[in-house]
This record gives sequence, C-alpha cells and structure tokens, in this order.
Amino acid sequence: MTDTLTPVLSDNWDQERSWTLEAYESTGGYGALRTALGMAPDDLISLVKDSGLRGRGGAGFPTGMKWGFIPQDNPKPKYLVVNADESEPGTCKDMPLMMASPHTLVEGVIISAFAIRAEHAFIYVRGEVLHVIRRLQRAVQEAYLAGHIGKDIHGTGYNLEVTVHAGAGAYICGEETALLDSLEGRRGQPRLRPPFPAVAGLYSSPTVINNVESIASVPVIVRNGADWFGSMGTEKSKGMTLYSLSGHVTRPGQYEAPLGITLRQLLEVAGGVREGHELKFWTPGGSSTPILTAAHLDVPLDYEGVGAAGSMLGTKALQIFDETTCVVRATLRWTEFYKHESCGKCTPCREGTWWLVQTLARLEKGQGTEADLEKVLDQCDNILGRSFCALADGAVSPIASSIEYFRDEYVAHLEHGGCPFDPAASTLFA
Ligand code: NAI
Repeated sequence: MTDTLTPVLSDNWDQERSWTLEAYESTGGYGALRTALGMAPDDLISLVKDSGLRGRGGAGFPTGMKWGFIPQDNPKPKYLVVNADESEPGTCKDMPLMMASPHTLVEGVIISAFAIRAEHAFIYVRGEVLHVIRRLQRAVQEAYLAGHIGKDIHGTGYNLEVTVHAGAGAYICGEETALLDSLEGRRGQPRLRPPFPAVAGLYSSPTVINNVESIASVPVIVRNGADWFGSMGTEKSKGMTLYSLSGHVTRPGQYEAPLGITLRQLLEVAGGVREGHELKFWTPGGSSTPILTAAHLDVPLDYEGVGAAGSMLGTKALQIFDETTCVVRATLRWTEFYKHESCGKCTPCREGTWWLVQTLARLEKGQGTEADLEKVLDQCDNILGRSFCALADGAVSPIASSIEYFRDEYVAHLEHGGCPFDPAASTLFA
C-alpha cells in the first residue's frame, strides 16, 4: 500500500469473512447507524450536502441535494432505490464492494432511507451476478435478525423494509428510470425526465435513486464528519473513490484514492502498463466517455479535470490499452455492445447505433473510403443529445474521440485493405 491510496470503503476487504455481520460489527460497523438514528433526518441531509459527496454512478450529481429534492409534504410514500445494476464496460467497483462488504451498503441504505423518510428501500442488482445477490440477501437477512432493519429499529419508532431485487440482465436497466420500470414489473425502458424520480419515481412516488458506492459512502461520513470527507479530493470533487483499472495494466483491480489523483499516479501503484509496452489510449469512465491518450496521463481524475480534457469522469473505469491494440477494433466492439443493448424505444439510438456498427465495421475491414469517416462523424452528430437517455450519447463518445486522436489509424485500415494490427498481440480482442 502506498500513500497514494486512501482505503476507506475497501479498508476491510481483506478481513477474514469480511462479508459477515460479525466481522463488520467487530470493526465498528452499524455504529454510524446508531448515531444517525439519534439525529434529525434534515440534519443528516445537511451533513451529506456539506460533505460534498457526488453521485458515484457516473453523473456526479450532488447526493445531498438530490435527497433535498424529496418533497416531504407529499403524502405519498417515499422510496430509496439503490442502483446496483453496474454494467458499464470496464466498471467493476460496486460488485467487489457488495461481495467483500455488503453490510457497508446495507448500513448506508438504512441511514439514507431514514434521512429521506422512506420506509421501503430496494436494492436493484444486476441479474447475472447470482453470487453477489445471494451475499447481499444474506447480509440483509442478518441485519433484520440484528434489529437494524424492520419495525421500530433500535426503539426509535422508525420502520424500514429492505428488498433485494434481481434484474434480468439488461444494460439499459442501469438507467434510473428504466430501472424503475423494471422494478415495477414492466419492460425496462427509460421514461422522459422531468419529472425526475425525486418528484415522481417508483410507483409515481418521490424516490431517491443512488449508486451503490454513493450509499456505501454515507456511514463513513456520519462516522467521521463532512470536514474529514472534504479533506480528501479537490474543492469541487470531494472525498475518496474507487477506481477500476483493467486491460493492459500489470496489476488490474480496484484502487481507492482521492478524487483528483492522476492516471500516472495510479499506474505507479498498479505496476504500470504491462511490461515492455506503452500506453496508447484509455477510458476515464468506461466506454461511455470519450477516450484519452498518453498525453492525458496527468489529468486530475475528478469531474472538472477530466471534463476540461474533453471527456467525463463517469464511472472511473480506467481501461488501459497499449500500442498493440487497434483503436478501430476497440471502438467497433464497444459500438456493437451499445447496438445490442439499445432498448429500441427511441429512433436515434435504435437506428443510429445500427448504422454506426455498419459504417465502423466497413472501416475496420478496410473497405469504403475516407468519406465514410465523415459519414460516421455525421451519424454521431445526429445521435448526440437527440436520444431519450444517455445510452446513445455514451455510444458515440468513443467513436468521435477515437477519430479525433487516431484518424491516421482509420485511414491506415483503408490503405492496408484491412486491419494492420496483429490480432494476437493485443490479448484483449482476440
Ligand atoms: P443525469 O446527470 O441526467 O442525472 C444524474 C442524477 O441526478 C439522476 O439521479 C437524476 O435524477 C438527478 N437529477 C438531475 N437533475 C435533476 C433535477 N433537476 N431534479 C432532480 N434530480 C435531478 O445522469 P444520468 O442520465 O442519470 O446518468 C448518466 C451517467 O450514468 C453517465 O455519466 C455514465 O457515466 C453513467 N453510467 C453508469 C453506468 C454504470 O454501470 N454505473 C452505466 C452507464 C452509464
């Protein structure tokens, strides 16, 4: 471990049987819940606002502000929904968190639900990860038996039910309103916003939807205070966070560090790009964010820094690609993913992702002409900002940026009459 890292959420991951209630409570777990239950809900919302915690699902929306949008004069029930449908390519932080320390999330759920005065919370987990679902269900069951969930929690008069719900494996169901439709038993497709879920969410009731990591960050904020949290990170992007490093990196995995750290610093801890190779391009937040290059190694990994570099921090999924990787092939693979996962509700996304794949596949095979490059950029222009939700915006992000940085490589495919790379060398796209 080096000084670069700040293990807070991941601090107990190496503990023996860290996922059990016994292990979690042995290191002070559920202490924050007792503190929180002694506070006024509005004070809890203020605490989270003051901490500067921003949504860790990708968008970075201020968490406390979102909680504050819940209209408390609305007689309808309030709901808390945890988005545990982590599916962004390269993103792998919520799943390890729920596997290693599900009680961190469960404690965060109870505190957060209490703050917004919800009496029912749902954790919507991606359907494919059965082992995570089972572990979470077991943790919720343990919390019920310990009296942390249920009726009259610790004699405070506060009641809360927590339901772990398994999705059916659709990327679109990570979009918050599609998730709500799916939770209500319908086909998961996005709803128009506004109204935002805070006003009309689950069963048309006021609903807070937060990512796993956001909710899991709440207990430590209650325990250590807003100033402690704000002492990490940058002025506008506060706190520590989980970065997922994958691809051509010596030691891939989860690295918890303050917002504002750079990829160069993280790579030093992770052993660098695989031996004998050099960085070619990388994604700051999975494939839904514009790619960056070796020229961006010192960009601060916070919402402002990555934004200024022309990309987005997103889910902090740092996918590393060395010089053996064909950027055209990588981009085509991502685009095929979005085409497959498009829910089909809106035309720009349904038709647009199909056309993008056609054009990119032609370019990758070295067929067509240089005019196809303009065509694909035109298709991107006609999709960006015109779809129902962010899926299609995400689909065009790596395409436009890869052409911006690696136009020569696209042209080389045309001149070569196919991909000039040895497909075996990259190891990622065999
Ligand atoms: P968004 O910026 O539209 O909204 C963010 C959050 O703030 C939502 O919960 C929304 O309800 C709330 N919000 C925004 N304005 C509001 C207002 N005026 N009143 C009340 N609430 C308001 O972003 P969106 O579309 O929810 O998420 C896009 C992000 O999702 C992308 O940045 C991407 O990185 C991320 N993403 C994450 C994935 C994952 O697996 N974790 C998968 C795909 C995308």
